[in-house]
Amino acid sequence: MNYAFSDKIATLRPSAIREIFKVLENPEVISFAGGNPDPATFPSKEMAEIAARLFRTNSPAALQYGITEGYSQLRELTQRRIKEKYKIGTSNDMLIITSGGQQAIELLTKVLVNEGDAVLCEDPSFIGALNAFRSYNAKLVGVRSDDGGMDMGSLEEKLKTTKNVKFIYVIPTFQNPSGRTLSIGRRKELLRLASKYGVMILEDNPYFELRYSGEYVPPVKSLDTEGLVVYAGSYSKILSPGMRIGFAVAPKPVAEKMVVAKQVADVHTNQFFSMLVAEYLKTCDIDAHITDVCGLYRKKRDLMLSELSKRFDGRVTFTRPEGGIFVWCSLPEGCDGVDLCRRFSDKKVAAVPGSTFMVDEKAPCPAVRLNFSMPSSDQIVKGAELMGEALDEYLRHTL
Ligand SMILES: Cc1ncc(COP(=O)(O)O)c(C=O)c1O
Repeated sequence: MNYAFSDKIATLRPSAIREIFKVLENPEVISFAGGNPDPATFPSKEMAEIAARLFRTNSPAALQYGITEGYSQLRELTQRRIKEKYKIGTSNDMLIITSGGQQAIELLTKVLVNEGDAVLCEDPSFIGALNAFRSYNAKLVGVRSDDGGMDMGSLEEKLKTTKNVKFIYVIPTFQNPSGRTLSIGRRKELLRLASKYGVMILEDNPYFELRYSGEYVPPVKSLDTEGLVVYAGSYSKILSPGMRIGFAVAPKPVAEKMVVAKQVADVHTNQFFSMLVAEYLKTCDIDAHITDVCGLYRKKRDLMLSELSKRFDGRVTFTRPEGGIFVWCSLPEGCDGVDLCRRFSDKKVAAVPGSTFMVDEKAPCPAVRLNFSMPSSDQIVKGAELMGEALDEYLRHTL
């Protein structure tokens, strides 16, 4: 049989990260490749108690169909929390529960993007979102980024010169893959440019509560007075990703269309886990939990940065994120992240080549992404030593 796939899917390639996961089946491999939270952060004991209670007292609701917008208590509790703490959402917005933040990204693309429309994004950016845009045959246009996040001069130039821009996709806080944060000045400029050129913004913000140092920077959505921003949030990195509970906060007309799109995608987000998260929010202290998670990740980040300083010894520069779970390493000119990751693999260390996250994923890219949430402290120390050795060998053969 000749399987003839749709134009939308035919050109999509399996993510390099998924390919790297194959290497990870070897238990000796130290992985800096994934983006998983440390399972030690999952509130398993509380969840087990809530799950048992839910089934004892309310199993018909937990096992029944729900409404597409999401379990109403979870919507209300989430809305109230993000409004009170972070000023996200106005009376013109609607919050819907989605199957992870990933689905919020996919649904917005589905409702806004026609074939050939452009999406402007940071370059590098989150592969899951880039592939969602590609799957709708969007034209991806990369905007230059530096240590302050997306460069606003480059953004304005792209806005001036690109036809049919549907939205600007931005991960403003502790970006995946770079760990960078968009400064407050640039956030205001981003809103000004979006308003000037009549373009929406998709703010993808799953890491922003994982801050270990530095000053709080308000979400772009909280600064938006014109209904320009659709916000994608998630419980994946602060509670657990396996539950697949995320949310979108969007101007009502947009949210209503996203609901129609979700109806045909999966009818509604998992009802049991929606109820579980709602009960967690009612009976546990999620803020205290996040403080504990930040405590653990702060130690891992500090260890990672000090070990990398020691082992890379100035030959590779890297970002010093104030939060999140990633460090972005830049190699000297003429090097390629794919080649270096191969050298890492030979030493049984996994990392992701920078090209994976680029709009043009085929072009050589002198960068590598490292994750620090998942490896143990011992693995960070040993892994950095092995990466240092691999780097020595690679640079000796390349430069
Ligand atoms: C930047 C970014 N956005 C969205 C997601 C999707 O997360 P989830 O669907 O688990 O909420 C991820 C996951 O790694 C991410 O890194």
